[in-house]
Order: sequence, then structure tokens, then C-alpha cells
Amino acid sequence: MGARRISLVNFKGGVGKTSITVNLAASLARELDQKVLVVDMDPQSNTSIWLMGVPRWNNLNGMDEKSVWGLFHPDSTGLKQCIEEEVLLNEHGVELIPNLDIIPATYKLMDLEHEYQDTDTTPYFVKFRMQLEILFDQYDYIIFDCPPNVFRSTRCAVFSSEEIYIPANPDLLSYVGLSLLSDKIAKFHSLTALHRKHFAGFRPAEIRGIILNAVESGADYAQILDMMSAKIINLRSRQVVSYDADILPTRIRRTVSAAKTQLDALPATLGCGSAGLREDYLNLARYIHNTPLGKKGARYGKR
Ligand SMILES: Nc1ncnc2c1ncn2[C@@H]1O[C@H](COP(=O)(O)OP(=O)(O)O)[C@@H](O)[C@H]1O
Ligand SMILES: [Mg+2]
Repeated sequence: MGARRISLVNFKGGVGKTSITVNLAASLARELDQKVLVVDMDPQSNTSIWLMGVPRWNNLNGMDEKSVWGLFHPDSTGLKQCIEEEVLLNEHGVELIPNLDIIPATYKLMDLEHEYQDTDTTPYFVKFRMQLEILFDQYDYIIFDCPPNVFRSTRCAVFSSEEIYIPANPDLLSYVGLSLLSDKIAKFHSLTALHRKHFAGFRPAEIRGIILNAVESGADYAQILDMMSAKIINLRSRQVVSYDADILPTRIRRTVSAAKTQLDALPATLGCGSAGLREDYLNLARYIHNTPLGKKGARYGKR
């Protein structure tokens, strides 16, 4: 019912959240013909800059109501103003992926973490979802790119999502972070359980899997992957991740062309980057598309 809502979360930076957001969204929209909205929750605005280009994104700064920031100030403008429907324009101003939209971030979003204060008893993450819910029926996918933390921006995304994927590198640091991240999200769900009553059919976001990024061809990852798998089995038994959570079989290879796609401001699906990279993102999009949420929800907040 309504859009599949997916947050890409990891409190580590540089693991591929933004690259995967942009390329997953572009692959779903272009290759699988899905109507996709990307919501940039990271004040660094990398996704917004990538999809809109520097000059158009620069114009947004100072008009912060036309970005995610506007969602926290619903009286000043309509939701429509926050959405940029024309992303990825070519030199003639023609849209390259028409069914891809974005709610961009600006640097102003940084203020959400400290300066912003709720003026009434409705917490910021409830306000955020109340605004966004209007869009749930207008898209097939809503994908949230999160900053490298689990502070307020990320919490808004999580509270508005049903699924979480964790982009990670196949290394020890990512392994160590898994439990902490899962516990933080489970705790957030417990603490916010009371607020679900505002929303019909609320389903707390479940961690559905790890997307391995920047995987070196030919490297032997057997040991670290075994450790990660064992950890996930443990997290499943503790019910802090989805019952079917796993390392996704579709991995993204490490390639210098990944960085080039960002520089060229184009996703791999438009032919930028290597054919292999494009294939990886497409396979990831297909896998996620073919693996919808099961009926059995996690019991977050009900323990
Ligand atoms: N598959 C990949 N191979 C090589 N470099 C990558 C790959 N994916 C991302 N990168 C590079 O790693 C850096 C961080 O990626 P990014 O997607 O911005 O991560 P995050 O959003 O988690 O901080 C960028 O310079 C990006 O170009
Ligand atoms: Mg990022």
C-alpha cells in the first residue's frame, strides 16, 4: 500500500550511502519504470548537488522552504514547493529521468540538530511524517539518504520508512558497528512507540539488509563475511533486525568510475561509469524490487 519507503543508514561516512541512493533511485526509475522520490536528509547535500547540479542547488540556499527544511515549517509553504521535479537535466534542459523527483537538502538542515525547537507538543519526526504522508500514494518508492549519524535527520527518515538498508564496506569497522546501529534503531522505535497512534497502519522500519559496497574483485572476504553473517543471525534472534535480514547477494564492486559518476553528476544507469558498475546497481535495484517486505512485522517497541 503506497510507496515502499527505504532509508539508507550507517553512522559511518564514506561507505556509499549517497552513491547507492542516487544509483538505486535512478535504476528503479529508469530501468524498472518506477516513480521515485529521493529525500536528501544529509545537510552536506551531496545527493541534491549530484541530482540537481551545483548552480541550481546553490540557488536553493537562502530559499530553504523549498527543501527538506520546509517540511518542518508547514505553515509557511505548501509541500509542493519542497519537491524538485526536474532533476538531471541535460544541456538542453531536458530531463534525463522524468519519473525521478527529489526533496533536496540545503545547509540549513544542519539547524535541525541543535537550533530547531518544537513549538508545540508534536515532535519534529511526527511533523515530518505528517507532511510527507500526503506523498506516500504518489510514488512507488521514497528513498531517504541519511547523514553519517543517527541524530534527528536520520530519525525523521527512519520514522517515515518501513525498511532500512545499511550500506557497508566488507571490513572490521562495519562489522563492529552493526550491533550498535541495530540497537540504536530498536531503542528509537521503543521510545517513539506512543507516537505511532497518529498514523494508520504504522509499521516501524526494519533493518532488512546490508549492501556491501566497494567490494574488491579477487579479494578474499570469507572471514569477515562469516563474522557478519553470524552477527546478523544473532541480531535476528534478538529481533532488532527484520526476521529475513541478511547481507544482500547483490554487491557493488569497487571501481574508480564510481567517483567519476559523482564528478560527472550522472548516475551509472545513464551510461556513466563502467558497465560492470551499472550492472551492479541495476542488480541491486532488481533484488530490492523483487524482495518486498513480508507480512510478518518485527515487534519493535512491543517487548
Ligand atoms: N563502488 C565504489 N567504488 C569506489 N569508490 C566508491 C564506490 N562507492 C562510493 N565510492 C566513493 O566513496 C566516497 C564516499 O561515497 P558516498 O556515496 O558519498 O558515501 P557516504 O554517502 O556514505 O558518505 C565517494 O568519493 C565515492 O565516489
Ligand atoms: Mg552521503
